[in-house]
Amino acid sequence: MQLNSPQDGYGSLFTGINTEIPLLNGRQRKYINFDNAASTPPFKAVKNAVVQFMDYYSSVHRGTGYKSQLSTHAYEVSRQAVLRFVSADPNTHTCIFGKNTTEAINKLARRYPFTEQRNLVITSGMEHHSNDLPWRAAVDVVHVKLTEDGRLDINNFDELLQHYSDRVALVAITGASNVTGFINPYYELAEKAHHVGAKIVVDCAQLAPHRKVDMLPADDPAHLDFITISAHKLYAPFGIGALVGPQEIFASGDPDLTGGGTVEIVTLDEVIWASPPDRDEAGSPNTIGAIALAAAIYQLEAVGIQAVADHEAQLTSFALEQLAMFPEISVIGDFDPDRSAERLGVIPFNLQGISHFLVAAILGHEFGIGVRSGCFCAHPYVLHLLKVDKENELEVRNQMMGGDRSNMPGMVRASFGLYNSSDEIEALIEALRAILLGNYQGNYVQERASGEFIPQGWNPEFDRFFSIPNLIELPNQTNIKS
Ligand SMILES: Cc1ncc(COP(=O)(O)O)c(C=O)c1O
Repeated sequence: MQLNSPQDGYGSLFTGINTEIPLLNGRQRKYINFDNAASTPPFKAVKNAVVQFMDYYSSVHRGTGYKSQLSTHAYEVSRQAVLRFVSADPNTHTCIFGKNTTEAINKLARRYPFTEQRNLVITSGMEHHSNDLPWRAAVDVVHVKLTEDGRLDINNFDELLQHYSDRVALVAITGASNVTGFINPYYELAEKAHHVGAKIVVDCAQLAPHRKVDMLPADDPAHLDFITISAHKLYAPFGIGALVGPQEIFASGDPDLTGGGTVEIVTLDEVIWASPPDRDEAGSPNTIGAIALAAAIYQLEAVGIQAVADHEAQLTSFALEQLAMFPEISVIGDFDPDRSAERLGVIPFNLQGISHFLVAAILGHEFGIGVRSGCFCAHPYVLHLLKVDKENELEVRNQMMGGDRSNMPGMVRASFGLYNSSDEIEALIEALRAILLGNYQGNYVQERASGEFIPQGWNPEFDRFFSIPNLIELPNQTNIKS
């Protein structure tokens, strides 16, 4: 199939996407990555920025040397790039760097000024655990119910908001689901939350790489108060993420992590915390990560986020059309190719009568296709989508507690990124056809503890492809002065 995107994809902007990997039969094949909802490969621009910056890398913030000043400048420019990327006002908002979305949400859960009166969070049954468990650890939490096909039940949201209108402090909702790719109506939710005096945090880990995130001006009733992103899902896998929100929230209260960098003044008797964002960035920051993220942002903006969305919608539509040809494959969530532009390119499915664990294993070992299977850190959502009843849930729970995951419910998930092509989707479809026909060679044995299938005789030989000791150069003896 021919897509309208350049070269049927944007592969030339990426590094590592033509890498060959070994198969079970001893041959090698170009790896196809359909696990972008988990992590994405880097843009070349990101790699180049990191490599070039390496020669200037030095301590940030308090160093007086030229390299320190340049590094500090680059770090702060990266922060501004994030603020611009999500249309946050740099005069009123701050960007706090951390490891990832999980850390960002944990921070907000610990730093948000909940009061005795307002101490409840409304989240939903479709969240990644990272936008659920941190709230449960901090305050009371209620979960918005879902419709049968796994969308947010807006009527139930309205009921909960009404019921808890005096108590709700925050609505914490995902921008887009990492399981079904559904995009939530977060502006509508924001407006309603503000109406009862609550704020909203939108988990943009999935959304930001694929759609414009616009926090809107603070005087717009639909504005987003807080957002979170993860760079490794945004083509910049260098261990950074960001929490963006109003400076005033982070200008008071104790930081959740204390230490160097968080303070204005310290005496033996007194500590005066720094202003945001420093108060919330304890210790030496991930400067290289910040620069990588900024490079990814610039590159995404150069492509144009609408072009990203268009390309991925075409891929999704094509994949859904192809999957519909197999009566033995059930696509979960929305399977209508005509609605591909309204959701992300994240497609969960199951093959009748074959464990999701086994399908994923065969795709990887015999076809060089990387997908993910299981519950995708969204157990309640996956059980809902699979319509697992309470009795079954309890049975599986007990099996898992007994160290046996072999019957764990789950799905296979193929998730697309900007660089994927229709040829790759065709390869996936051919692989699924082969699996359905039983045309695979491995003798797969299921591990009880993990539920995963391992083919007998598999020897991954990782060191042949990547080995840290092999990269180490010996010092040139003639250059060493005695
Ligand atoms: C919707 C959503 N939220 C949060 C996370 C957590 O992101 P991270 O692992 O980068 O902290 C993920 C990761 O898959 C996600 O998909």
